[in-house]
Amino acid sequence: MVKSDMKRILVIGAVGQIGSELTMALRERYGNDNVVACGRKTKPSEKLLNSGPFEFIDVTKRETVEKVVKEYDIDTIYNMAAILSAVGEDKPLLCWDVNVNGVFNILEIARTYSMKRVFVPSSIAVFGPETPRVNTPQETVLKPRTMYGITKVAGELLGDYYFRKFGVDVRGVRYPGIISSETPPGGGTTDYAVEIFYEAIKNKRYTCFVKEDTVLPMMYMPDCIKATIDLMEADVSKLRHHCDFNVASMSFSAGELVEEIKKHIPGFVCEYKPDFRQAIADSWPQSIDDGVARREWGWKPSYDLKSMVKDMIDKLSKRYEEGRL
Ligand code: SER
Repeated sequence: MVKSDMKRILVIGAVGQIGSELTMALRERYGNDNVVACGRKTKPSEKLLNSGPFEFIDVTKRETVEKVVKEYDIDTIYNMAAILSAVGEDKPLLCWDVNVNGVFNILEIARTYSMKRVFVPSSIAVFGPETPRVNTPQETVLKPRTMYGITKVAGELLGDYYFRKFGVDVRGVRYPGIISSETPPGGGTTDYAVEIFYEAIKNKRYTCFVKEDTVLPMMYMPDCIKATIDLMEADVSKLRHHCDFNVASMSFSAGELVEEIKKHIPGFVCEYKPDFRQAIADSWPQSIDDGVARREWGWKPSYDLKSMVKDMIDKLSKRYEEGRL
């Protein structure tokens, strides 16, 4: 177990794509009983349930979070609950409620209970069509066109405000699309880069909802977990930024991903039928400059397209052969 000043950790959104793997990584690092997992409605996996405490809360209802914070004497929160970009366009009010009022509730609780640290993730969705799309700088135009992006800009600004005004140690990165094999994502624009693996392995066919030449920044889950934990363990005196770090790992087009998958599954066929998510993807950067994260807290990713695809196919093929996909 790692010695840390963060003693009792709460992961909100622990049943989701990132939360489920983050919770297990934190339990391994800080001890099972020191990491409380929280979900809203979805039934947690046996793994999550059997490895440590689990509670149901609703981030939009402050008292439900406060109850768990008091009961477990929480001093650190990772808020991974969010409505992603595609669902956010369908349900913009819900998106605002969960992503902004939810974050506001967490920050108020952190201030009231003098928490050690809070993680509030942001996203490449904070950028918009006016932002330079290639090697997008840390400091640039933030004029997103999606409700998801708007809520993420608000989250970054609120977190930075709580740091400066109240001294709450809030931190966050702008995640790119996250690719993972454990829990599927739900309701995002970058979801095709995960769905494609399941369909390639099960049916050797996939209909992609963005065009073949659509390039987006992506990251494999082990790097996502590493970015999250490394930033939370960084020395605060070295940080000049807090809630808005650009982090990058790899960028590829949908077509390049298909070609890489074909190296492992030669008969794989992908068709392209762009839908409303194409416009969202077109408003986001293609690649990200993460020099500030590298300098301030030593960020460095491990995976590229080739190693990510190989690992995804190895893991999912094994599950498929065991009848668990
Ligand atoms: N993966 C997210 C989405 O597609 C971006 O942060 O909405």
